[in-house]
Formats: sequence, structure tokens, C-alpha cells
Amino acid sequence: MTMDAVRLVEVGARDGLQNETQTLPVAIRVELIERLVAAGLRTLEAGAFVSPRWVPQMADSDQVLRRLRQHPGVTYTALVPNLQGLDAALAAGCREVAVFASASELFSQRNINCSIDESLQRFQPVLAKAAEQGMAVRGYVSCVLGCPFGDEVPVADVVRVARELYAMGCYEISLGDTIGRGTPGRVRSLIEACASEVPITALAGHFHDTYGMAVANVQAALDAGVRVFDSSISGLGGCPYSPGATGNVATEELVYLFHEQGLATGVDLPALLEAGAFIDAALGKASASRVATALRSK
Ligand code: HMG
Ligand code: MG
Repeated sequence: MTMDAVRLVEVGARDGLQNETQTLPVAIRVELIERLVAAGLRTLEAGAFVSPRWVPQMADSDQVLRRLRQHPGVTYTALVPNLQGLDAALAAGCREVAVFASASELFSQRNINCSIDESLQRFQPVLAKAAEQGMAVRGYVSCVLGCPFGDEVPVADVVRVARELYAMGCYEISLGDTIGRGTPGRVRSLIEACASEVPITALAGHFHDTYGMAVANVQAALDAGVRVFDSSISGLGGCPYSPGATGNVATEELVYLFHEQGLATGVDLPALLEAGAFIDAALGKASASRVATALRSK
């Protein structure tokens, strides 16, 4: 009998590093990703083809992608907001990208400078060209449990954006609690509502830990049937357009949480801890992962 498994999408080198005040050199970003691959991660966001004026930390993502060694079964992905981003990703040899929409109008304006509907229209040619090129596209919905700029985000708005991204051809929809304000009961209702329009196997959970709820929210989504989760080594991260947001749930927390329940992740925890120590040292910061802190002090 094969063990039940959960798939982790490592977003530390993108969602994590995009929110650090310093822009790390390409060589460090490449080494981080290669250490994460060595630890067993198989889907990794390596950068973002966005405006370097908006997010300077993701400048030179093309060089990061070009330098990464290819391994069978390992996928490097990158965010693209428009055709210009897709073309840059293609030129850098990317085989998978992610588009990102929001369920909140205010966040959409502040993050990508257009309305939700304009963003969805902008993604149509991106999806069409990606399909032509045989590239897979993932879709994000941000602000699924609240918006940093205060507007309410009805569940129906999240469901609509998730449905449209899926209908457009995104193979997976990652539901982003950008500001980490969700709690397990709301997560369960949200997943149930989205799963009525998008197959549960095509939903992923993307939880930030701003209020310390991320692990509880992951468990709620797991119990509701989600089997794909985004996480960030050492709990790095946040969002440059979400003031006060802290990192994504730490990858170390999820590996510990899932392994303790007999769910395979393919990740070797000691090797993961080493990758975390590497990026903590590069940033000159203490780890935000409680699991890493606990295991290192043993
Ligand atoms: P804009 O100013 O409206 O774009 O920005 P524009 O089309 O008017 O072009 C203006 C300039 O940007 C031009 O350059 C373009 O060439 C350039 P100029 O002629 O002035 O020198 N430009 C680009 N440069 C590089 N790559 C591109 C690109 N497109 C245009 N793809 C734009 C619109 C979308 C570009 C801008 O708002 C942007 O880059 N936003 C980035 C936002 C971002 O990366 N946010 C963080 C990721 S989202 C997130 O973290 C949430 C998530 O984790 C899920 C969750 O937590 O919920 C995914
Ligand atoms: Mg995020």
C-alpha cells in the first residue's frame, strides 16, 4: 500500500525573498533553491517576472532560472503578471509559470495596477500562449480571507476568481490568505465553497502566518481534502503590497506536521533544516520556523 502523500510547493525563493529589505545576489538565490531540491522538494518557485521597479528583490529572476540545474521530476516556476512576463520566463527556459489575481479590488489595484476583471482579461493571452508553448500555468487568488486595505472579501468573490482561472486553463488554483487572518472554521467553509466549482484535487492552500494561524489553517484545509500546500523555508516571506504581513507558513512546520500524521512529503527534514540555516545566515536573521528552532536546540 502506498502511503498517502501531500505535495509541497516551495515558495521561499519568491514569496519569501520578495519581502526582504535586501535583494540577495543571484548566486545565493540559486544555492538556496538547489539546497531545497537536495532536501527533496520537487516544485519550487524560483522568481517572478514582474517589474523590478515594483519588486526589486525579484530582479534578475531570469539569471536565477538560467543557472539552476535541471533534475528529473523537479519543476521551477515563476510568477508572471502579463505577456511581457511570460515572454521573459520563456526566454529564461521556464517550463511552468503562475498568474496571480486577487479576490479584492483594492489589493488588485495596489498589487498589479488593474482591476480584477482587467487582470483576468490580461491572463487570457498569457494562458493561450503558454498552452501553445506546452507550459503549465498555476493560478493564484490572493486575499481569500481578507484584504490588507480593509475591504471585505466575500467568499463568492473568491469562488468566482478561482472558477475563472480554472476555466481559463490554470491546472491548479492556490488560495492565498495573503494577510494570514483566517481561522480554521472559515478555511473549511472557503474550501467547501471553492470545491463546488473547482475540483478539490486542483485546489492548493497558501497560508501566511501573520496571526499565528497558518498551521491550524493548513490542517483545516487538509481535513477538507486539500493535498497541495505552499510553504516557505524558514517561514520567510510576506508581500510587498500587504503591509505587516509576515511570512508564509514554514516548510519545516509542514513537513513535521504531515510526517507526524503519516503523510509523505518526499522531504528530508534534516536536509531541510540545513537549507534553512543557509538562508538565515545569508539574511543575517533568526529562523521564523518553530520546528527548526526546536530541532536545532535539541
Ligand atoms: P504597470 O506600471 O501598470 O505596467 O505595472 P505597464 O504595463 O504600464 O508598464 C510600465 C512599466 O513596467 C514598463 O516599463 C514596462 O516595460 C514594465 P518602462 O517602459 O516604464 O520602463 N513592465 C514589466 N517589467 C518587467 N516585467 C514585466 C513587466 N510588465 C510591465 N512583467 C505590473 C503592472 C503588473 C507590471 C506591476 O504592477 C508589477 O510588476 N507588479 C508586481 C506585483 C508583485 O509581484 N507582487 C507580489 C506577488 S503577489 C503575492 O505575493 C501574493 C501571492 O503570494 C499569494 C498570496 O499570498 O495571497 C501570490
Ligand atoms: Mg503569498
